[in-house]
Amino acid sequence: MLSRIEALRAKLDELLEKVDSSAEIEKAKVAFLGKKGEITELMTALKGLRDAEEKKNAGIRINQLKKEIEERIAARAAELEKLEERRQIEAGPVYDFTVPAQSGQGSLHPITIVQRELEEIFASMGFTIEDYNEIVTEYQNFEAVNIPKHHPARDMQDTYYLSNGQLLKTHTSAAQNAIMRKYGAPLRAIFPGRCFRNEAIDASHENTFFQMEGIMIDEDISISNLIYFMKTMLSEVFKRDVKVRLRPGFFPFVEPGFELDINCLICGGEGCPTCKNSGWLELCPCGMIHPNVLRAGGIDPEKYTGFAFGLGLTRLAMMKNGIKDIRVLNSGSLKALSQFTSR
Ligand code: FA5
Repeated sequence: MLSRIEALRAKLDELLEKVDSSAEIEKAKVAFLGKKGEITELMTALKGLRDAEEKKNAGIRINQLKKEIEERIAARAAELEKLEERRQIEAGPVYDFTVPAQSGQGSLHPITIVQRELEEIFASMGFTIEDYNEIVTEYQNFEAVNIPKHHPARDMQDTYYLSNGQLLKTHTSAAQNAIMRKYGAPLRAIFPGRCFRNEAIDASHENTFFQMEGIMIDEDISISNLIYFMKTMLSEVFKRDVKVRLRPGFFPFVEPGFELDINCLICGGEGCPTCKNSGWLELCPCGMIHPNVLRAGGIDPEKYTGFAFGLGLTRLAMMKNGIKDIRVLNSGSLKALSQFTSR
């Protein structure tokens, strides 16, 4: 048995000298460590040994060799990866970016198409369209919208932090404060943007997705204004009747707050993985802006009231195009995406 183990080590030495590419090292890994590889064979042979002392020693040696093989293969694989990178750079550029495109023009992403449609709808209703940063301060993302430190609402929006304490914004509400301060009241604005959350990904959740926030602030703005704008927006976007439901929802930055859900257009409300079998999809939480948020934005809550909504733009693009799985949208797969775009 010991001679077999030594022979295998010698075979490894020889092979590691010869391999010259990542593909080859991957093959070697399978040959040595795979389910039907050399180590498994040794382990099977080990079971047949009768002498307990010999069995114990051989077992220890096999495990040592296994560890050595794993480490040496990983080290050689890393070396080869670097070598291949260098070879590729030395071989010159893969693409000549100066060559004119051969396959016609590119096309807009389905989310961009929906975003532009919404921008047109809201612009026609007197809203300005604002752009805002993806990297924001903790204050903008949380405190300014009435989510103080240690508030449990922060748990639902874990995100990616930079070493300087800034973070990738978890919602477009992070821009509310800056926009209120920029324009004051009265104010009608929408601000689409990319948001980030550190959360488990499934058919309807991504870690990178788009929202579109809207705020309207003036004297005497009420929930009826909110409902009117939400209904108008949805009927314009879907160009047909879509069943919606409004239910109470808690967000520290609105009071009262609502969840606006739409009947899942993938399954027609029957229940499917996209709507987690509920028949409804959370699309556009909304509510009346909390006085603390107006105050933080430099607006007098005694004089002005307003509504805010945070539309899930990515989910809207899914519903409009019948896309069952959100991951398609960030896949970069032209084959998949070109079905939903127009040139
Ligand atoms: C918010 O982000 C609030 N800022 C919205 C808001 C604004 C409420 C103004 C009231 C007033 P929520 O976490 O529910 O709320 O997200 C809003 C929408 O973004 C969801 O309904 C959903 O459509 C979309 N969304 C949220 N998380 C994800 C995700 N991981 N992937 C894709 N879409 C998401």
